[in-house]
Amino acid sequence: MSSQFDPIAPKPHIAAMSAARAGSSQRPAWAENEELAAQALWLDRNESRDPQLAAVLQQALAEIPVSALFDYPKIAPVRQKLAAHLGVGSDQLVLAHGSDAALRGIFEAYVGSGDKVLLPTPTYIMSPVFCRLQEAVPVVIDYEATNHGPYLPPEKIIAAIRSHRPRLVYLPNPNSPTGTALEPDELRAIIEEAGARGSLILIDEAYHPFHPRTVLPWLAEYSHLIISRTMSKAWGMAGVRIGYTIASRSVTAELLKVRPLYEIGSISLVLLDRMLDRVDAMQESVARLTDGKRYFVDEMRSLGFAVLRGEGNFCLVNFGDRLDTVQKALVGIAGFRRVSHPSLAGYHRVTATTRALFEPIVARIREAAEVSP
Ligand SMILES: Cc1ncc(COP(=O)(O)O)c(C=O)c1O
Repeated sequence: MSSQFDPIAPKPHIAAMSAARAGSSQRPAWAENEELAAQALWLDRNESRDPQLAAVLQQALAEIPVSALFDYPKIAPVRQKLAAHLGVGSDQLVLAHGSDAALRGIFEAYVGSGDKVLLPTPTYIMSPVFCRLQEAVPVVIDYEATNHGPYLPPEKIIAAIRSHRPRLVYLPNPNSPTGTALEPDELRAIIEEAGARGSLILIDEAYHPFHPRTVLPWLAEYSHLIISRTMSKAWGMAGVRIGYTIASRSVTAELLKVRPLYEIGSISLVLLDRMLDRVDAMQESVARLTDGKRYFVDEMRSLGFAVLRGEGNFCLVNFGDRLDTVQKALVGIAGFRRVSHPSLAGYHRVTATTRALFEPIVARIREAAEVSP
């Protein structure tokens, strides 16, 4: 039935934005075949692929009281527990529905129409979308292609901050999909430059502690520094949707103004509470997945494929002229993500799983690699 009323237009910049520019799906095509997808181990979104951690989560899930279904969430005690785990004040912490929502909140509170936001590319796909939603101007710095993989010279970032004086600098460390991380002295120089130019700087630590270095201890020195983190990677809770920002008290006070009435749901909150009693399980999982990744990287290199080990829970493999054969051999077993940026031409991103789960994948790839192309 057609409406007798005309459609109401959204805000002009939303109307002008195509669905693709609002972040269309990045799923690889093979996922469209639901039957194959159901059989395969998806190694394309950097989710946790550790059955032992999954078992721990299952246990924690069993401890959720039914009151979590019908009560509004009681955020404060869990926020305090997470703050204690991180060694910060609870007034420096804001929970969010995934780090995705944490980043969105920062844009909402700090970035306005016409403001410049400095971003690397490629990077987390929603960051340019958040810019457009605020009518901000993304200033994009491209990773360069080198013989050692994608590289973003810190001097280039510093020069861009100096010349553009952006409102916000967004830097995931390590970045995805490149897997690259800046050295502490490089990061410090960038943070200092941002401070000197009146820019807020957001370091996205989604892959902590796969990459154990953090700028967290520097929060005491820099009131323009914000850190975002997620429970989606090391903690294996991508479906639960919990992320958070850690910042100075003055920044946190602003971020709290744009938070929803309840930052996360009660079930997520109780699960977070229970998992904070199981930090060892998360750390053991990180060690297991790091070992699995090491095994996979070494095997791929021994087969002659170029591999970028990277600092997150994933690596990048260039299967060269064997790509088609490898992909055919893995149908129904595993799927990876092609990366489209020129600095990663030819590379596929492979999320880490355990050695035991990698073994049959490696066996198939080995067979495929040994067949003439
Ligand atoms: C760098 C980076 N930041 C943020 C996110 C978003 O994570 P989530 O919204 O699940 O917390 C991702 C997810 O892959 C990521 O790679």
